[in-house]
Amino acid sequence: MKILKFLLNSTNQRLNKILGKKLNIDNLKNYHKHDVSDLDHNIMMNPHSRYIRFDKNIINKIKKNKELTKILNGFWDNNKFEIIWGSSTLYNKTLKNATGFRVARPKKKHTKDVAGVHIDLHFGGEIRKSKKAMLTVWTPLIGFSDKYSLRLAPKSHNTNWPSSSISKQKKYITPVFKKNYKFPFKFIRPNLKKGEVIIFHPNLLHGGSSNIGNVSRVSLDFRIFNSEISEL
Ligand SMILES: [Fe+2]
Repeated sequence: MKILKFLLNSTNQRLNKILGKKLNIDNLKNYHKHDVSDLDHNIMMNPHSRYIRFDKNIINKIKKNKELTKILNGFWDNNKFEIIWGSSTLYNKTLKNATGFRVARPKKKHTKDVAGVHIDLHFGGEIRKSKKAMLTVWTPLIGFSDKYSLRLAPKSHNTNWPSSSISKQKKYITPVFKKNYKFPFKFIRPNLKKGEVIIFHPNLLHGGSSNIGNVSRVSLDFRIFNSEISEL
């Protein structure tokens, strides 16, 4: 669990850095108890800000992970990848070996902390043709049960989504589906344990993962890009 602690610390430090001395979050699960305005929360959750960098040790561990290697070989026929945050379209730069984090406060008081339903294929506003261009690893750091975990629709990745179903608003880093779009799929929320992650296909529907627990959820969603397909 050393890595989990390291990632939590990095996230904590980054949050404090973004807002200077305004916050002193010593325990991120109580983030919602701090007097953070929605405006300040949104500043912290801006994709330009909400990222941490992986050190070499963690990158090496991820690259050597047998489960991930197996999944990539099965899906891409290779296991060469880069972990990247950002996009040249939205940010004019991409960050290697970095990942985005998200903090979602309990829904009871904060209804807007989560992104709507979307697919990650066009992450960063880039339209990607190959469904083998990337994968996402959703990694909970605080909040593992089905009250907190990622909401996703199994088997939805086989669908070709009409572009008319995507909302034009630019609020999110990835375009979300229109609110009135009727998804012909059932959504589930897995029960995870500490150290478990969800690795999912870039065309899979997910999102709207409201935090219906009592503590703040902290998660990373890092993007693994196929080195043999240059659609960054
Ligand atoms: Fe996503």
